Amino acid sequence: MSLKFGNTILKHGIMLAPLAGVADYAFRRICRSHGAEYTVSEMISAKAICYGDKKTPLLARITEHETPEAIQIFGSEPSFMASAARRIALGEFSGDNLPAAIDINCGCPVHKIVSNGEGSALMRTPELVGDIVSAVRGAVREVSDIPITVKIRAGWDENSINAVTVAKIAEEAGAELIAVHGRTRTQMYSGKADRGIIKAVKDAVNVPVIANGDIYTADDAANILSDTGCDGIMVARGALGNPFLFDEIIARFEGREYVAPTISERIDTALLHLSYIIEDKGEHIGILQARKHLSWYIKDMRGSARLRDEVNRTDSLDGVKALMERLAEEAEEK
Ligand SMILES: Cc1cc2nc3c(=O)[nH]c(=O)nc-3n(C[C@H](O)[C@H](O)[C@H](O)COP(=O)(O)O)c2cc1C
Repeated sequence: MSLKFGNTILKHGIMLAPLAGVADYAFRRICRSHGAEYTVSEMISAKAICYGDKKTPLLARITEHETPEAIQIFGSEPSFMASAARRIALGEFSGDNLPAAIDINCGCPVHKIVSNGEGSALMRTPELVGDIVSAVRGAVREVSDIPITVKIRAGWDENSINAVTVAKIAEEAGAELIAVHGRTRTQMYSGKADRGIIKAVKDAVNVPVIANGDIYTADDAANILSDTGCDGIMVARGALGNPFLFDEIIARFEGREYVAPTISERIDTALLHLSYIIEDKGEHIGILQARKHLSWYIKDMRGSARLRDEVNRTDSLDGVKALMERLAEEAEEK
């Protein structure tokens, strides 16, 4: 099975989901090297781009290690969304590494975003989704053939499950791919993602549909595809501290045996990840931001609680390396 949209062709349709505060350059690069075929940027405020915020465009960078990558924008005003998308499509923030798509966020459940009518609040205003997609597509089309994609939820709440309606409107307005997270906004990230609604979207539109929600194992990946008939999968929390999940899923899809990494291989990957974070953000901020990732890498290892406390008290790269290496040695002795 291969997935095609715009100029992008993915052998298996295996994507890393957008994860604000988590799936930055370093994590995307690590996931790519373990088999993620496609990544999506952290969500970026269209208004912040339009108002010339200094830091926001950094989120829209794309390095040569990450293509194909989509840039995801959020907002509720078609004019701001269109003008931010046009600048992103022109490569203003990513240079020669143009985005593979401009993705529109209709899923973020955070109060601050939703209270502005943005993110998953758009599930309550399907017509506005159509207006946004159409404005963004029109503006991008003037400068490039980069496709517009949309990421939606099942609906706002259990009484207003409308992913099919929103998906059809988005398709009609020109969206070329739709990713569906099978939870409502009120569920936030709890409960189970509903595969039934993902399948209903897949059955209702002609553009590729990507299934998202609760993919933690290769079995989950294979089952969500067979249950929904979708064209690809988007892995989110399952990849935290476990970029190896992509290797495992690819092995499953290719009918190969998967050999799980040893503890020292996990720790080597965690340290490589740390080095990418530091390369991008410098040692001081990098170490602080790496803490959550390091604790995810080690969470199932013996002594991890103690080590996590020690990592959280260490603010030098050498100190963190020494701690992680000690964990690897202790694990090997057992
Ligand atoms: C920390 C975190 C940050 C997220 N950031 C974004 C984001 O920027 N844009 C977006 O569309 N979804 C975002 N999501 C939602 C995920 O992409 C995904 O839809 C959700 O986690 C469901 O998949 P899962 O059950 O496999 O985790 C975020 C989720 C988490 C946990």
